[in-house]
Amino acid sequence: MNGPLDPPRGVWWKPAHRAEKVWVGVAFGWCMVLFAMMPLWHVRGGQNPAGERARVNPQAYLARTLEFIEEYKVGEASGIAIVEPPPGSDVYLLSRMWSWMPVLRLRKDVEYTLHLSSIDVNHGFSMMPGNVNFQVVPGYDYALKMRPNESGEYRILCNEFCGIGHHMMVGRIIVVDDDEAPLEPDVTTAVGGAP
Ligand code: CUA
Repeated sequence: MNGPLDPPRGVWWKPAHRAEKVWVGVAFGWCMVLFAMMPLWHVRGGQNPAGERARVNPQAYLARTLEFIEEYKVGEASGIAIVEPPPGSDVYLLSRMWSWMPVLRLRKDVEYTLHLSSIDVNHGFSMMPGNVNFQVVPGYDYALKMRPNESGEYRILCNEFCGIGHHMMVGRIIVVDDDEAPLEPDVTTAVGGAP
């Protein structure tokens, strides 16, 4: 009879078997490898953005984006302005419930500074195809250095739940080859009315 007050049966108090010691050693070693990978990947992984975050007033960011759109607008698609900024310039992308503004038309192999911010709640910038992900936070302007290295059309999906229209929040970035002619500015639909 082995009651609750009797010592347990078996040989559990004997020293650990060699295989068990080896197993604990291997597990501990692997923990150390993973532990070392964290700082190593931070330096060598190449996935950390060379961006700068700065505080920004959401209304000031909206005004700056509208100014940017007015200056470089070349067309419109489903009510969203298409903007073609000069190569190498600062480009502005604004997120809000539930759209991205404007549609950017960029040149391949040219470095831009992409400003990202939101004027209401947190959104997620997720560029497809590819694997580019950023948090878009109201009150902060994320100035991200980017150099598109493949032409084509990219979708920007919101990957941070932001309300009832979250799933419809899709934007666009168009990357064209360097020798492609710029689109003619579309004065009739320019924001604020061009002269
Ligand atoms: Cu914006 Cu989800």
